[in-house]
Amino acid sequence: MTKITYITHDKQNNTIDVQNGLTVMEGAVQNDITGIDADCGGGMACATCHVYVNEEWSDKLPAKEDGEEDMLDMAYEPNKFSRLSCQIVVSDELDGLVVNIPEKQV
Ligand code: FES
Repeated sequence: MTKITYITHDKQNNTIDVQNGLTVMEGAVQNDITGIDADCGGGMACATCHVYVNEEWSDKLPAKEDGEEDMLDMAYEPNKFSRLSCQIVVSDELDGLVVNIPEKQV
């Protein structure tokens, strides 16, 4: 289990123990975190799992897969800390990861 903190747009901190091997998106959906829609179920085809990774974590995450950047261009107000949470696989190395959920998804 790895602790992931999801901060909603209205500043509610939700620190959840997420099972390794799940994605950050799946950790949110399974724990009823609001604001991550994940319409495509993790297929990198919707951009409704967009999150902003806390700055100190942005360099520690695995690099984006081909296509993630293109899909993020379709997300709501992407910036340099944007990631698709369905593409971040939870592991011990991510213990303490903090992600911020945008005001809305596309
Ligand atoms: S759930 Fe659709 S792109 Fe992540």
